Amino acid sequence: MQLKNDLILRAARGEKTERTPVWMMRQAGRILPEYRAVRNSLSGFIELVKTPQFAAEVTVQPVDILGVDAAIIFSDILVIPEAMGCPYEMVEKRGPTFPKTIKTEKDIDELRVADGETDLGYVIEAIKLTNKELAGRVPLIGFAGAPWTLFSYMVEGSGSKTFSKARGFLYTEPALAHKALEKITQSTISYLKAQVKAGAHMLQIFDSWAGVLPPQHYREFSLTYIRKICEAIPEVPVTVFAKGAFFALDEIGQLPCATVGLDWNMDVAESRAKVGASKTLQGNLDPCALYGSFAEIEKATKGMLKAFGSQRHIANLGHGVYPDTDPEKVKCFIETVKEYNHG
Ligand code: CP3
Repeated sequence: MQLKNDLILRAARGEKTERTPVWMMRQAGRILPEYRAVRNSLSGFIELVKTPQFAAEVTVQPVDILGVDAAIIFSDILVIPEAMGCPYEMVEKRGPTFPKTIKTEKDIDELRVADGETDLGYVIEAIKLTNKELAGRVPLIGFAGAPWTLFSYMVEGSGSKTFSKARGFLYTEPALAHKALEKITQSTISYLKAQVKAGAHMLQIFDSWAGVLPPQHYREFSLTYIRKICEAIPEVPVTVFAKGAFFALDEIGQLPCATVGLDWNMDVAESRAKVGASKTLQGNLDPCALYGSFAEIEKATKGMLKAFGSQRHIANLGHGVYPDTDPEKVKCFIETVKEYNHG
């Protein structure tokens, strides 16, 4: 299928773009009343994720309603732990929890290496359906969590302020941590390859908890595995978004990925100097900027666009949009990017 709008792919590959492309992390979700309507007609989030027809419907919503330059497949990073034998529950207002966590070698030996095509067939089916519905309007982004971020959920059993159990595990049982991370990595490679085969045009790796590790542990327990994933998938551009990992941006710049995601704490010029000229950068407006007035949003968005420059940039927020953001404010952000003339 020929894409009618391939701006984001050209930007990722470092090809010339006539304007900056834009999408938003968590664009398919609770900010949209249309999303909440679909979700409320079901038993909950997990049923939505596992029903390809509904997952495809909410994936396309932000393209229709917000006018973004890419869709991201509606799913969650936690589908991989589940496929490996660690199911999650989504508890309203509390976020995800795992009834069973990883503590011992036996727990890790019992984890299965997931097969993307079969164990995660519902996501693969949703990707195919979504591309049918998009009919080439915009590219579709596939994604997975980085092995370290998934490992931390599987050890902690939920989100955490300190991630002290997961970080502690790296000191007390480093060999076991590597064993688990390797299994997560193999599962993730199989999953992402299946996403590409099904029609994902681009991939993003979310290392949401990168920022809790000291640099040497980040290198050993996270970057090692992100590198393996990038090396295994040369077919499409890959974005690495490592939230809070400003200390590792030079090493992230050395990964065989196309794009590096910046969070809103990261200074654009400093990050560009660390990452180098050979990557596209993505980001990084503070999601809280969207609580401001329309005039303030325009000003902040233009400031961001100027800082990144006209090429090798994919506009986004510095992390997922917050659920209580007014969709009209989101549209203002997106329209400002689309209308901006770098001069
Ligand atoms: O629009 C999109 O970006 C695609 C969908 C998407 C979801 N989760 C849907 C979702 C994506 C890309 C994710 C990734 C994800 N999931 C990450 C990495 C990105 C990040 O934010 O750092 C993480 C850490 C998770 C784990 C997760 N899933 C948490 C912590 C929560 C609860 C927080 C919350 O917002 O409630 C979820 C649930 C979740 N995943 C929701 C959505 C739309 C909200 C659930 C609901 O609708 O009730």
